[in-house]
Amino acid sequence: MIPNETIDRILDRVDIVEVISGYLPLKKAGQNFKARCPFHEEKTPSFTVNPSKQIFHCFGCGTGGNVIRFLMKYEKMDFIEAIKILADKANISLPRQGSPDGQKNSFSEKLYEINELACDFFQKNLTGDSGKEARTYFVQRGLHERTIRDFRLGFAQDSWQELVNYFKAKNVGGDMLEKAGLVLRRETDGNFYDRFRGRIIFPIFDPRKKILAFGSRAFGEAVPKYMNSPETHIYSKGKHLYGLNFAKDHLRKQGYAIIAEGYFDLILPFQNGIRNIVATLGTALTLEQIGAIKRFTKNVIIIYDSDVAGETAALRGLDLLIGESMNVRIAVLPRGDDPDSFVRREGSVKLMNILKESRDLFDYKLGILTAKFKKSEPRAVARIVEEMLPTLARIKNAVLRSGYLKKMSEKLSIDEAAIRDEFGKVRLRDGSAKDFSARPGRENLRLSRLSAAEPQVSQFPRPAEMTLLAIALEDASLAATIGEKLGFEKLKSRVIAGVIEKIGELQKNGQKAIPSHLATCFDDEKTNEIMARALSIAPTIQDRDKGMRDCFRHIIDANVREAARNNPDIHEVKRLIVEHRNMVEKISDKTISKTT
Ligand code: CTP
Ligand code: MN
Repeated sequence: MIPNETIDRILDRVDIVEVISGYLPLKKAGQNFKARCPFHEEKTPSFTVNPSKQIFHCFGCGTGGNVIRFLMKYEKMDFIEAIKILADKANISLPRQGSPDGQKNSFSEKLYEINELACDFFQKNLTGDSGKEARTYFVQRGLHERTIRDFRLGFAQDSWQELVNYFKAKNVGGDMLEKAGLVLRRETDGNFYDRFRGRIIFPIFDPRKKILAFGSRAFGEAVPKYMNSPETHIYSKGKHLYGLNFAKDHLRKQGYAIIAEGYFDLILPFQNGIRNIVATLGTALTLEQIGAIKRFTKNVIIIYDSDVAGETAALRGLDLLIGESMNVRIAVLPRGDDPDSFVRREGSVKLMNILKESRDLFDYKLGILTAKFKKSEPRAVARIVEEMLPTLARIKNAVLRSGYLKKMSEKLSIDEAAIRDEFGKVRLRDGSAKDFSARPGRENLRLSRLSAAEPQVSQFPRPAEMTLLAIALEDASLAATIGEKLGFEKLKSRVIAGVIEKIGELQKNGQKAIPSHLATCFDDEKTNEIMARALSIAPTIQDRDKGMRDCFRHIIDANVREAARNNPDIHEVKRLIVEHRNMVEKISDKTISKTT
C-alpha cells in the first residue's frame, strides 16, 4: 500500500494539464482547457480539463476524475502503475512494493536493463558487417528498414562468446545473464555461452516497451526454427502478448483486436497498415492474455494459420474468449496461408476483406463440424450438437445463447425442444463453463475488476442530489450540515451519500477534502463520473445556502412522493406527510449553514 499522504503529495506536485497535454492537444477555453475526448468518438471537443480543481471531465460521455484516473483510463493502467508514473514525474520516491526488502524489484529492473543492453547489441550486429546475411533475410521476407528499426529486430552472430564478452566488458557476469535467459552454462567446465547463435532476434516487449525476453529464428530451414528466451523472473510465455506495446492505441481506435500466431504474422500486417494486431507466439491463448486485450477492447478477431493446428487453436481460443464475455469472430485464410504470407502476396486490402468476412463463433464452429460429420446421419448430427453445446454454454448473455440454440435447430433441422433438453444436461454437467469467472484466483479478480471499469452509460442521480454533492465539493464544511440537517439516509444515490459523508469525515479530521484528492478515495468508475459531473455544475451555483435548502426540500418531497407511490397504506402516507412538514420546518432554519 502507498500511504495516502504520499499520494496527496504527488497530486500536489503534478499538474493535470501538463500530464494530459502529453497525450492530447489541449486548447485553452476560458479558465479551462478543452480537447476532443479520447474515450468516445466526437467531432466537437467536450473533454474539459480544469486546472484549478486539477480534474478532467467529458460532458459527452461523462468520464471524469483526477490525473490518476486519467492515466488509469487512458493508459489502461491500474492504480499503482499510475501512481508510479506520477511519482516519477513529481520526483517522489515510493516505498518498494511487493517483497518486503525491495530486492525483487531491483532484480527485475536489473533484468530489464540487461535485456535493453542485449537488444542494442543485437541491433548493432544486424547493421554491422556480420549482419549482412540477416539483412538479406529480412529483405526477402519483405520487411522495410523502418519496420526493422521500429520492432528493434536484431541478429545474433554464429558464435559462442560474443554476448558473454560484450557483457563482460560492462561488468555483467554470466550468472546474471543466465538469469536473464541469455546464456547457458556448459556442463563440463561450468562456463557460460550464448543462447542465441546465428539467428535473427525479436525483442519481446511489455506494454510499456520494456524488454521482457527475446525470440529468435534460424535462417532458412535450419532447426530449431524458432527459439525463445526461457521463463525468467520477468517473463512467462503465456502471460504476455507479442506486439501489444505497438498495437495498444490501435486496439482502442479500431475497436477490436486481431489475434495472430507468429512474429511475422504480426509484423507484416502491421507494416501494411493493419496495426490493431497482437500475437500469441504459437502458444494457446491464455486467460492472462485475454485480460491484457480486454483492457483495450472486448472485440477480437482470431486469425490463425489456415491448417489443422491453427483451426484447433482457434476453436480452443474461441471457448476461452467467450467465457470471458469477449465478442469473437474468426477470420479464415486460404488453406496453407498465414497472415504473413497472405498479406505479402495479396496486400492489406485483401487481408482487410478477409477480416470483414470473418465468421462469428457459431458459424465458424458449426462449419467445421458439419464439414467433419455428415449432416444427414442422425448419429453425426448428435455429435455436432454435442460439440456445439459446451461452446454455447459459455455465452453469458441468455438472449444470445437462446438465439443460437434456435439457429442450431434450424440449421440442423432438429426439434428445438430436443436441443434445449440436451443443453440443460450440458450446463449441469459442464460446470467449468459457468464457473470460469467465479473461479477464485488473481487473474480472475483482475479480469472482473477490469470489466467493471468498462465505461458505462449510467443512470444519473436526481439533480438535487447532484447539486448537493456539488455544494459539498465546493465547500467541504457544508458536508456535515447536509448530514445533520437532511441525513445521508435521505439521499437516494448511495454513491453521492458516500462521497458527501467522506468529505465531512476528511474535513473533520483536518484532511484535505479537495476534489483531486477525494477522487483517490474512490477508485470506481461510477463514483468518479458522478463527482466529475457534480464539479462541472458547481460553478453555476450562486448562493450555496439557498441552493442547499432548495435541494433538501426537493429531496424530501421526492422521497415522500415515491414512498406514497409505493405504499398503499393511507396511514403510512399520512405519517410521511407529517414527517415531511417537520423536515421542511427544520431546514428552513436560517442558521442552516452554521453547523456547530
Ligand atoms: N513458435 C515457437 N516455437 C516453434 C514454432 C513456432 O515459438 N518451434 C512460435 C513462433 O512465435 C512463431 C509462431 O509460433 O512465430 C508461429 O509458428 P509457425 O506458424 O511455425 O511459424 P511462422 O510464424 O509461420 O514462421 P515463418 O513464417 O517464419 O516460417
Ligand atoms: Mn509464416
